[in-house]
Amino acid sequence: MKDGYHSAYWAELYDLGHDLFPWLNEDGNIFLGAYKDMRARRPLEACLEDKYIFVDIGCGTGRVFNQLADNLVQTGGLSDRVQFIGLDYSAHMLKRATAKMPKALSHCIKYVQGSATDLFAVEEFQGPPTVDVVTFAAGSISMLMEPGQAEKFLVQAAGVLRPKKGRALISVRYVFDDSRQAEQAKMQERMFETSYSQDTPSSSFPGILYRQGKEIYRREGNLVFWDLPVQVIKVDANGLETVIDTDVASMGGRVWKDGELLLAATTAGLELVETCSSSNETMYVFKRG
Ligand SMILES: C[S@@+](CC[C@H](N)C(=O)[O-])C[C@H]1O[C@@H](n2cnc3c(N)ncnc32)[C@H](O)[C@@H]1O
Repeated sequence: MKDGYHSAYWAELYDLGHDLFPWLNEDGNIFLGAYKDMRARRPLEACLEDKYIFVDIGCGTGRVFNQLADNLVQTGGLSDRVQFIGLDYSAHMLKRATAKMPKALSHCIKYVQGSATDLFAVEEFQGPPTVDVVTFAAGSISMLMEPGQAEKFLVQAAGVLRPKKGRALISVRYVFDDSRQAEQAKMQERMFETSYSQDTPSSSFPGILYRQGKEIYRREGNLVFWDLPVQVIKVDANGLETVIDTDVASMGGRVWKDGELLLAATTAGLELVETCSSSNETMYVFKRG
């Protein structure tokens, strides 16, 4: 089944979902804090070539860097000496991220197609570990749902992080967290309140609207899925509709047992620094142990 990041239409739908549910963007302040802490932890000497490296794994359409750019423009703190690298396996998500690159950071962002479990294939991660910040936002570590996949990512994240000073920020959404049953239920309710209730016009493709069907929730062991049917409809000048694409995407991933992520991270050589919580996720902040 398709994963929901498999076409230009679904990449746009991802962004439309974040417009529909603004609370999904509550992590902006956490990433702004991580950026500021990074600079405070390792002040750069003016005369040296050294840079900060800030990496967003599973960057999708660039939400983390776009939010960060907005926040840095508002609060100050932009620096030319940061290399931002966004990595994602979906060419469609990356194409959209590139098109939406924020002006304030466009000269220092690089988007790379690759896998969260093959970090050392990326040129910048070869050689000594010099990454200052790794983010894996929006509960996306759950998308590594094959046995051992998330564990493999954690080992590699530890391997690229700058010893002591580097930080990895890894989000676990409550819908993927069996120790947060009450919040799981609340989040499900919030999503059902507004989803699939209306047609959503495309902002990127003239004359296109998305018609969402009813989501089907299913749980299989430690995996959870929301199968989401969507029709892509072309509407002509007379209002005549032609369905040009019909797809069901299976959005979901691995559900974590209480303490499971922490154990996997510790085993991978990461040490917990702190956790921050929002209405929909726990953000674990790790350093290399
Ligand atoms: C829920 S979206 C999050 C996008 C973005 N980080 C955000 O916060 O808005 C998950 C993203 O992870 C990407 N992804 C999933 N598995 C991946 C993998 N193994 N390697 C690289 N990217 C992956 C998907 O293509 C998708 O763009």
